[in-house]
Amino acid sequence: MNLQGQHILKVEQFDKDTLLSLFELAKEMEGVKDGDQMKGKLMATLFYEASTRTRFSFEAAMLRLGGNVLSNADMNETSSAKKMETLYDTGKVVSQMADVIVMRHPEAGKVEELSKGSDVPVINGGDGSNDHPTQALLDLYTMWKHFGKIDALTIGFVGDLKNSRVLRANAKMLSLFDVKFVKVSPEELKFSIDVPGDETDDLSSVIADLDVLSINRIQKERFENPEDAEKHRGKFVLSKEILAKSKDEMIVLCPLPRMEELPVEIDGDAKCKYFEQIGNGVAMRMALLSKVL
Ligand code: NCD
Repeated sequence: MNLQGQHILKVEQFDKDTLLSLFELAKEMEGVKDGDQMKGKLMATLFYEASTRTRFSFEAAMLRLGGNVLSNADMNETSSAKKMETLYDTGKVVSQMADVIVMRHPEAGKVEELSKGSDVPVINGGDGSNDHPTQALLDLYTMWKHFGKIDALTIGFVGDLKNSRVLRANAKMLSLFDVKFVKVSPEELKFSIDVPGDETDDLSSVIADLDVLSINRIQKERFENPEDAEKHRGKFVLSKEILAKSKDEMIVLCPLPRMEELPVEIDGDAKCKYFEQIGNGVAMRMALLSKVL
């Protein structure tokens, strides 16, 4: 499928062949530090929700390809959102100046709302608990790079499956492949979408079956009552002892930020790919930007 000129709003837009060609292109992009493919292009990053990796990663990708960036990390406070400008209008306005827009918003559907006004492609950098397509792209790219394939892997999703847009996006994108899922969460934090696979709340009893352990913190800010999040904290800690039960070739993925679920003492283990993932994210976003533009 052709991504040129398309908004990238949700995982469902992708098919398997497109993913595989993005992986190949991302691999080539890894060597590019000072490219010129995006020379003369401007990317606007409009963030209505906090971010460290996603915004910088897109900006690094654009700058590495010779393009330039218009950045607002605090749209709620410092843009005309403060003066009640609609997202439709903001999309219309920014698209008169930029060639592509990357946006994050704490509410599901708001990126799509802005895209309706935009005359240039809008890429979803996360909307509420709904979707985070580019994080799924980089997570699958990390799997593909490590295993040379995605089919036949067993993937464990661990933590707040209900509120984590990352785990949800991963589950949807991985469904295009022939994979097995294991879902590890408390009863109250199960996926709200239909994801097949065994369920448990005991990580140590299933870790030996996994090829990929995909973990995300309890998403406290997405709870109706944030205090309820506290009672789930600390239930899924990937301790050295539990990690030692995993297969030699298993990898641990996490979009970060982390809390207690990933203790610093395991960082040095070669299975832990969560910092390496960040570099993969830049390469993947370089690949995506060059396909979309
Ligand atoms: C995640 C997000 O924003 O959904 N982080 C990211 O994009 N790297 C995960 C999280 O906030 O826990």
